[in-house]
Amino acid sequence: MAQIGMALYVGLTVSLVFVTILHQSSADFVSTPVPPPSTPPPQEGPGIPAQGQYRAKNENGTVCLKANMALQINISFNSAENKTVQNIVNLNPNETSSSGSCGKESATLILKSGLKTELTFTFTLNTTSNKYYLNGVSILAIWADMKESFSAHNDSLDYLQGSLGFSYMCRSEQTLKVSSDFSLNTYLLHVQPFGLTGDSFGSVLECMLDEDDLIIPIVVGAALAGLVLIVLLAYLIGRKRSHVGYQTI
Ligand SMILES: *[C@@H]1O[C@H](CO)[C@@H](O)[C@H](O)[C@H]1NC(C)=O
Ligand SMILES: *[C@@H]1O[C@H](CO)[C@@H](O)[C@H](O)[C@H]1NC(C)=O
Ligand SMILES: *[C@@H]1O[C@H](CO)[C@@H](O)[C@H](O)[C@H]1NC(C)=O
Repeated sequence: MAQIGMALYVGLTVSLVFVTILHQSSADFVSTPVPPPSTPPPQEGPGIPAQGQYRAKNENGTVCLKANMALQINISFNSAENKTVQNIVNLNPNETSSSGSCGKESATLILKSGLKTELTFTFTLNTTSNKYYLNGVSILAIWADMKESFSAHNDSLDYLQGSLGFSYMCRSEQTLKVSSDFSLNTYLLHVQPFGLTGDSFGSVLECMLDEDDLIIPIVVGAALAGLVLIVLLAYLIGRKRSHVGYQTI
């Protein structure tokens, strides 16, 4: 009896500690900006970019598209020396301005970084399914070491799929391949191109990459819950037995 009580005590303590830890990490998970999980900083290159808060507004001045994201541009271009150069550049939010426009079925975000880089994102809303997605990305880059300005675009993409009224979140690194010589790496991304209520994001739809990061704590949690259940069952069975024992005496 005392042993079962002890076992129960230990089991409950362990699970309480665990639940506290899990709660802590789920709290971290909800409140952004922390570095993305399981993405060690790259050995070379510019490191993880900083998150910018980009907006597009309607004619009447209300915010109609919100995009909080950290962006890294990966392009390959011809250098002034006529060599093919692979260049990875972080977009600096402090030097980047955002603008754009929103229609019923299409919304556009334009990011301009100095006079050197311009990125355009086009989102489409399917008014039948009420699903939106990023269908187009284009870039114009005029960088010092280029032979000539670099431009690329693709209007048949299918990234960042969300539902009307919801925001799309992907904290993990995600690569959006646009063309053979241009891709975007995104981090700490939270966007909503349609159906904003006021200036606030709608409920979050989390990307698959982020959900994968949650699987380990869930598995460990389930295992511990099972353990607690077994201890509890053992305790209840033991109690029942000892009751039966008293009755026969
Ligand atoms: C940049 O793009 C090239 C070609 O697609 C790819 O091999 C490389 O891994 C990318 N680098 C980063 C840091 O994304
Ligand atoms: C919109 O979604 C519906 C239902 O999923 C689909 O049948 C239709 O082809 C989509 N329309 C466009 C323009 O993509
Ligand atoms: C545009 O993106 C689609 C889908 O990822 C891809 O199949 C296509 O090759 C891309 N087009 C160009 C010009 O890179």
